[in-house]
Amino acid sequence: TQTDGLTVERTLVLVKPDGVRRGLSGEVLRRIEAKGYTLAAVELVQATPELLERHYAEHVDKPFFRALVDFMLSGPTLAVVAEGNRVIEGFRSLAGATDPTTAAPGTIRGDLGRAWDGPVMQNIVHGSDSPESASREIGLWFPAL
Ligand code: PPS
Repeated sequence: TQTDGLTVERTLVLVKPDGVRRGLSGEVLRRIEAKGYTLAAVELVQATPELLERHYAEHVDKPFFRALVDFMLSGPTLAVVAEGNRVIEGFRSLAGATDPTTAAPGTIRGDLGRAWDGPVMQNIVHGSDSPESASREIGLWFPAL
């Protein structure tokens, strides 16, 4: 929605099982709110294979797909809908690069990510990459919204 030069969007953020296990849920929510975004929905969810196959549909043919799904099944995920001006791009900037080794200091993955945790990349958070993905992913994780 474009109002007075603002582009108010919603994005799906996931604190992945590594982040929840390490007690970083609050830290991720703190960074989202400190940036000025608002929380529209927050729920702790145990993902299912069906949900993850839909969520990661574009990666089904990647070599890491099965390991990624198994990792995402390894514990609860904190699903969050964050809202604000250009929040889709803004949260990806807060998250930093996919690989915690190269993610810039100051970002969630750069400050908190541990690339050495295992064969599967455990990078704490996921954020939607486009308005189309955000709307599709919010519908998957929050069917009632
Ligand atoms: S890609 O290949 O450019 O599409 O990769 P990217 O968009 O950066 O990452 C897509 C999601 O896959 C995860 N990923 C991995 N998981 C496990 N192992 C390896 N090697 C790996 N590489 C990428 C990555 O964390 C992304 O997950 P989300 O949840 O979308 O952040």
